[in-house]
Amino acid sequence: MQATLTALVAKAQTDLAALKTRPEFEAAKARLVGPHGELTALMKQMGTVAKEQRPAMGKLINETKTRLQELLDAALGAIATAELTAQLGPTIDPTLPSPDVGPGTYHPLTLVREEMCRILRKVGFTVADGPEVETEYYCFDALNTPADHPARDVQDTFYFPDTARFGNVSKKTPGERYLLRTHTSSVQIRTMLKGPPPIRIVSPGRTYRRDTTDATHSANFHQLECLYVDKNVTVRDLKALLDYIFASLLGKDTKTRFRPHYFGYTEPSFEVDLSAQHLPKVKKEWIEIGGCGMVDPTVFAGVGYDPEVWSGYAFGMGLERLAMLLYGIDDIRYFYQNDLRFLKQFA
Ligand code: DAH
Repeated sequence: MQATLTALVAKAQTDLAALKTRPEFEAAKARLVGPHGELTALMKQMGTVAKEQRPAMGKLINETKTRLQELLDAALGAIATAELTAQLGPTIDPTLPSPDVGPGTYHPLTLVREEMCRILRKVGFTVADGPEVETEYYCFDALNTPADHPARDVQDTFYFPDTARFGNVSKKTPGERYLLRTHTSSVQIRTMLKGPPPIRIVSPGRTYRRDTTDATHSANFHQLECLYVDKNVTVRDLKALLDYIFASLLGKDTKTRFRPHYFGYTEPSFEVDLSAQHLPKVKKEWIEIGGCGMVDPTVFAGVGYDPEVWSGYAFGMGLERLAMLLYGIDDIRYFYQNDLRFLKQFA
């Protein structure tokens, strides 16, 4: 009997080690310790063992049972580990660079923004920043855009409920509303209120309007704003700067054209068109790219600059529009979808 038990354990050890799947395991377990299994059969033979040998034999059977259980547990553990390893796939070294993903690329909007800032820095502009959550004062009132102006309509502007609080935005006056800035022109006011002229800033940033998204509209887009304040600034300076910027960004054959327009914060005001024959989206047409003008004396007076002494120009333009022209992109939605097939085209 003792020899049979030892042989049983030895055989179980080799058999169980060879198991690969759970069904195989269950079958082997039944064969060994199940109601009709080999150990059970041996236990049933206890009756035939001489009385004085029974305690020793009982002990031996118990030990065998324990040993078999250990072997079964080990076999099941090995199967579970193998299953997990198969699920996890090949082992990896997480400290190595991934073979599938190359270095990232800059977003096309980042590229255009940085290039514009570089071009403007070359002629003395510094980058200024302002908050995206604004008060009506910075976004409209200080820019000579009165309360009844259509731009302030809830149709066009995202307003926050009266209960909204923003610790990092300047305090609003009673009755005034917080909003998501509709243009980067608010940074003009913030910059002028910080100190006296001369001022020469470029301010790129996110802007928001209640537009329904389509190929050319997005409720969230980007603008780039410039403000120059000094003595004896003229429309000619403005035109020269715009010519310089667009020739630098888009190529020497780029031309700009002014069309009279109205903005509350500039007088005179213009819309700016550009044409660049080599650009696929422009060809020989004129494409509207932004707004500009000479800073309105009312705006100067509002920030405490003497309009008799100081003059200046300002302009603002959409960064998406620029990037679309530069790269020949025909749908604004590509910028926000984070599709790597799109993004990887811009190095
Ligand atoms: N803020 C205008 C817009 O969003 C663009 C603009 C027009 C900016 C005239 C200016 C400006 O600085 O002088 O459409």
